[in-house]
Amino acid sequence: MTSTEHAAKQDTASAALPVVLGGRPRPAVATAPWPAPAGREMELLGRVVSSGEWGFDGPLEAEFERKFASYQDAEYGLCVANGTVALQLALEALDVGAGDEVIVPGLTWQATAAAALDINAVPVLADIEPGTYCVDPADVERLITPSTRAIIVVHLYGSLADLDRICEIGARHGIPVIEDCAHAHGSRWRDRGAGSWGTLGCFSFQLFKTLTAGEGGFVTTNDPKLREQIYSLRNCGRRRPGSLDQHWRPIQSGNYRMTEFQSAVLLAQLDVFDDQASQRDRNVARLEARLTTLPGVAPMDHPPQRTRISPYEFAFKFCPQEWDGLSAGGFRVALEAELGVEVSTVNEPLNGAPLYQPHTKRRHRLSAAHWDAVNPARFELPVAMRAYREGVLLPHKVLLDDDAVVAVADAIARLHEHRHALARAELDADV
Ligand SMILES: Cc1ncc(COP(=O)(O)O)c(C=O)c1O
Repeated sequence: MTSTEHAAKQDTASAALPVVLGGRPRPAVATAPWPAPAGREMELLGRVVSSGEWGFDGPLEAEFERKFASYQDAEYGLCVANGTVALQLALEALDVGAGDEVIVPGLTWQATAAAALDINAVPVLADIEPGTYCVDPADVERLITPSTRAIIVVHLYGSLADLDRICEIGARHGIPVIEDCAHAHGSRWRDRGAGSWGTLGCFSFQLFKTLTAGEGGFVTTNDPKLREQIYSLRNCGRRRPGSLDQHWRPIQSGNYRMTEFQSAVLLAQLDVFDDQASQRDRNVARLEARLTTLPGVAPMDHPPQRTRISPYEFAFKFCPQEWDGLSAGGFRVALEAELGVEVSTVNEPLNGAPLYQPHTKRRHRLSAAHWDAVNPARFELPVAMRAYREGVLLPHKVLLDDDAVVAVADAIARLHEHRHALARAELDADV
């Protein structure tokens, strides 16, 4: 063999090897920046600057509220400061307060539980369903007590919570349901928008979300009284201009408003959002179809009621028994190296998450009983723990790149082919 032939052979071998085993790095998938300008941002921002209407209740805010609420199939929508505040105000609008119990999934971003905690309610952590990683309706029902005042469901990682069962349980017990839709803009259950099923729906427009203005939040509802209540709560207790509610009285609240600049950006982003959501939905379907055919991994369940999904993150399962000793952590690191994009775990369950520690803040020491009640360690979340070990998350921008879906599947297949070497290398690294 000539030296040129030898080099060519080595080159081919290196191309076939996973990157963490010395293979040649491949071009990163999904290199498009996020967030990305949609087109009209500068024009609309310019309009705001010259109008002098920089604060709240501006014309662009009113237009965005109308358009986004209708896009999610809700009657009313109100902009608020962020997604955390949206959840807090939704609870307060339902008159949830001191000592009331709020059932939330044990697997979610900390804000879902923190919103209840910060209004002096008691977050009660429910376990999740293994097929969707969303809250388990049976566990929700098990946790209902005479003190339960709200149920919050979270639509996560390419799944929607089972709204049929949760809404039925809520209705049967007379407990309102709040949908945390921070990951579910544009997603639909039985072809009706997320956020229109519960009594209230809450969205985040934080920088990385699929619809963003850097920061911002939104509350949807079909109830005209709750609309007035959310408006007052977000605006220091004031009456909504144009409100016809005869029974309205000023209430105690603070400033949870959004600015007209953010509405300008959101309106521009909304121009392209539906196309992006369709593309994400299409690529979720393509990726799920490929994942069912690959060894070592499994897609999440896809109930037929999930008629459209435009997730913030896409999850699938690592099946440890099919990797001859390679750990889920080792797989994530190897996949990240293959793809050149962040590959992560699902959120750490809230009974042990470093960013959800009510006991680090004296403000929650309302009484010895409350202190005990808000201790998240009192909940057992075995299914959420398993999801934390086996779940693999990809960012949504992978779904905005049609080629990435193929690259993800090819990378998983390549890693599986080299699983013995990967497991050995992981073991050596640990020693
Ligand atoms: C599920 C969930 N709920 C609520 C929030 C809170 O949104 P925000 O960051 O806008 O306060 C987030 C934020 O990432 C989230 O992931």
